[in-house]
Amino acid sequence: MFPPTFVCVFVDRTNAAFLALGMRTILSMVIFCFAVGIAPTVKADERTVRLAAPNELVESGLLKFLLPRVSLKTQVRVEILDPGSDADVALGSEGRPLFEGLGETWSIQIASPNHAGTQKFEDWLMSEVGQRTVTDFKIDGVQVFSAVSFSEETNEGTAFEGDAALGLKLSVSHCGRCHVSVSDQPMLGIGSTPSFFVLRALDDWDIRFQTFYALNPHPAFTQIKDVTEPFHAERPSPIVPIELTLEEFDAILSYVSALEPADLGAPLKTQ
Ligand code: HEC
Repeated sequence: MFPPTFVCVFVDRTNAAFLALGMRTILSMVIFCFAVGIAPTVKADERTVRLAAPNELVESGLLKFLLPRVSLKTQVRVEILDPGSDADVALGSEGRPLFEGLGETWSIQIASPNHAGTQKFEDWLMSEVGQRTVTDFKIDGVQVFSAVSFSEETNEGTAFEGDAALGLKLSVSHCGRCHVSVSDQPMLGIGSTPSFFVLRALDDWDIRFQTFYALNPHPAFTQIKDVTEPFHAERPSPIVPIELTLEEFDAILSYVSALEPADLGAPLKTQ
């Protein structure tokens, strides 16, 4: 079942990554090997995608992080080749931009457009899950790559269907006590609290907003009906609490999704 040459190549390539990524890599590798080992018989030549990738990207560990996930989802095995090799697809500075990081914009260029495996690989990388996986990759706990704007554009409007007008009102009345949440009130809000426009400019703004009630300082004063636990009897909310239904929460998300992100210039690092 297992092509032995492949196992050797894979283990050899991973030596450096073992040190850098530790257990996660090992686990991914096991899953990867398993997935490839049991993959149904698709036409062999379409199941392997030859990917030319710059050393910088290989050494970052990103591909080791991504490729097992690609394989699990698409049943496609990706073989990494040196840049400039005769490959089905290349990552580098040419082609369609995919993500940014290590001081560069990384793009995808397809050499074999009719190759089914290549098509699947590209689709996965362009998908929201693919982009999210890229941005999930961390070195020593620090995010390295960020999505380029196309994924945000495709997310917008589809993800949040709440009542944005209601969201505006709620953002002002509830969140506006600390955050600047509307553009014509720059002086309201508390100075050290990030404005909604700054938060909106972060790649993972949607995750932050969808989980804000669990992120400090909000749990101390926020109740979402059917979601959060009641405040602890001995630790009531120190301020007039924020109480929202899920519908109202959705409305805020819709409002925020439509905000014009602040121009942050260089990528901003927050904790
Ligand atoms: C009492 C003040 C206060 C209120 C009210 C408040 N926030 Fe915040 N919020 C903060 C502070 C302070 C931070 C920054 C926390 C940090 O940087 O660690 C923050 C951060 C955030 C973040 C980023 C969280 C992160 O860790 O990335 C989001 C999203 C957010 N708030 C959403 C909201 C929403 C939505 C509301 C209204 C429903 C709201 N906040 C109401 C004080 C408040």
